[in-house]
Amino acid sequence: MTAELFPETKISLDALRGRQLERLRATLHLAYASQAPYRAKCVAAGVHPDDLRSLDDLARFPFTAKDDLRGAYPFGMLAIPREQCVRLHASSGTTGRPTVVGYSARDIDTWSDLMARSLHAGGARPGDIIHNAFGYGLFTGGLGAHYGAERLGCTVVPMSGGFGERQVQLISEFGARVVLMTPSYMLAIADEFERQGIDPRGTAMRVGIFGAEPWTESMRAEIERRLGIDAADIYGLSEVMGPGVACEFVESKDGPTVWEDHFYPEIVDPASGAPVADGEPGELVFTTLTKEAMPVVRYRTRDLTRLLPGSVTAMRRMAKITGRSDDMLIVRGVNLFPSQVEEQILRDPALSGHYMIELTRSGALDDLLVRVEARAVLDGGAVAQSSAGLVRRIKAMCGLSAEVDIAGPGAIERSMGKARRVIDKRPR
Ligand code: DLL
Repeated sequence: MTAELFPETKISLDALRGRQLERLRATLHLAYASQAPYRAKCVAAGVHPDDLRSLDDLARFPFTAKDDLRGAYPFGMLAIPREQCVRLHASSGTTGRPTVVGYSARDIDTWSDLMARSLHAGGARPGDIIHNAFGYGLFTGGLGAHYGAERLGCTVVPMSGGFGERQVQLISEFGARVVLMTPSYMLAIADEFERQGIDPRGTAMRVGIFGAEPWTESMRAEIERRLGIDAADIYGLSEVMGPGVACEFVESKDGPTVWEDHFYPEIVDPASGAPVADGEPGELVFTTLTKEAMPVVRYRTRDLTRLLPGSVTAMRRMAKITGRSDDMLIVRGVNLFPSQVEEQILRDPALSGHYMIELTRSGALDDLLVRVEARAVLDGGAVAQSSAGLVRRIKAMCGLSAEVDIAGPGAIERSMGKARRVIDKRPR
C-alpha cells in the first residue's frame, strides 16, 4: 500500500492543516522577498505575508496569472539566483512567449518523490518495467515521470512520444507492466496493437497512468476495455511543478488526490475570483508550499473542477477536469466543452474516441461539425444510424444541432501528446 512506502500520505487532517499554514507562511515570505513582480502586487493590494494568520487569509493575497509569468520572461520569477537552478522547463505557449520554470536541486528531489508517490498510487510498484511515452524535452511530462519512476525503484524505458510501431514492439518485448502517456495517445497505440495483430492482453501491461489533457470517464472505460488494463488519472502543470501535483489511486479511481502537503488548492469563481466552497465547481488555483526556485502564490490554472473530500488519504481530491476555461467553446451562445462531446460519442459502441470538432460560420450562425472515426468500416445504413444517434444526443445534451461526419478508421489525425480537439475556423 502507498502509505507504507510514503508515510507522509498518512498525515491526519489536523496535522495537514497545521503543516500547510506553516509552509504557506514560508512561501509568502519567499515570494515577497525574492520575486519583485509578486511583491509589487502585494504592495498594490495592501497585504504583507505577516497578514496570513489562518489558511482563510490566503484569499486576501493577489493571484498569479500566466501573463505574470510571461511578463517576467525568461527569469524574472526566479526566487533564487539562476546559477542555483539545475534545470529549466518551458511550456510551449501557443500564443506569445513561453512560460519558463526553474528548479533547484531540492525542487527536483521533491518532484521525484511526488512523482514516485503518484506512480505508486496509480498502481506502479518497485521492480516494474515502466514504459514512459510522455514527451521528453522542455515539456515536463517525460523527465518528470522518468525521475519519479527511477525514485520508485522501477526500470524506466525512456521512449518519449512518436514511433507508434516501436512503442508496441517495446511494450510487448520488454514486458512493461506500466505505461505512461496521454490518454489520446494510448488510443492511438491501441489501434497500432490491432494493426500489428498483437493482443495487448497477452502482454505484461496491466496499468496505465494517463494525463496532460482532459479525458472523460467514458474514455477511461474505452481504454480499459480495449487494452485490458487499469487506467489512473495523473494531473499537473509546469507552472506549479509538472506531472504529480495530484494523482488518482488505482484502487478507488475516484479522482486525483491533490498532494496537499506540497500544493495548497483553492477553487474560485472564474469571473470574480471569489473563493467557492469545497464541492462547488470553479477554477482551480494553486499555491506551492515547498518550491524553492520558483514558488507561485495563488496561480490561476484555468482548469475547471471541484474539490472533494479525501478518500484514501486525508488530502482532498479533485473531480475529473471538465475542461479549461480557455477551451470552452461558445457556439451560438451555448457553452460547450469538447469533453461533453466525447461523452456522447463514446455512448455508441460503433464509434471510437478519435474525434475532432470543427467550427465554421455561415452568415450569422455558427456551424458545429463533429468528425469522428468509426471503430471498423461501417456500411451506409450503420453510418446513418450512428450519425443520427449522435446528432440526437448532442441536441439533447446542449440544444445545439450539430452536423456529424463519421469517417473510417485512421481518418483523423493522431497526436502523440496532447490531442488537438478543436479547429475553429470562424472569423474573429
Ligand atoms: O501537462 C504536465 C503533465 C504531464 C501532467 C504528464 C500529467 C501528465 P503542461 O504542459 O503545463 O503540464 O499543461 C498543464 O494540462 O493545466 C491542464 O489543463 C492539462 N492537464 C494536465 N493533466 C491533466 C489531467 C502538463 N489529468 C495543463 N486531466 C493543465 C485534465 C490535465 N487536464
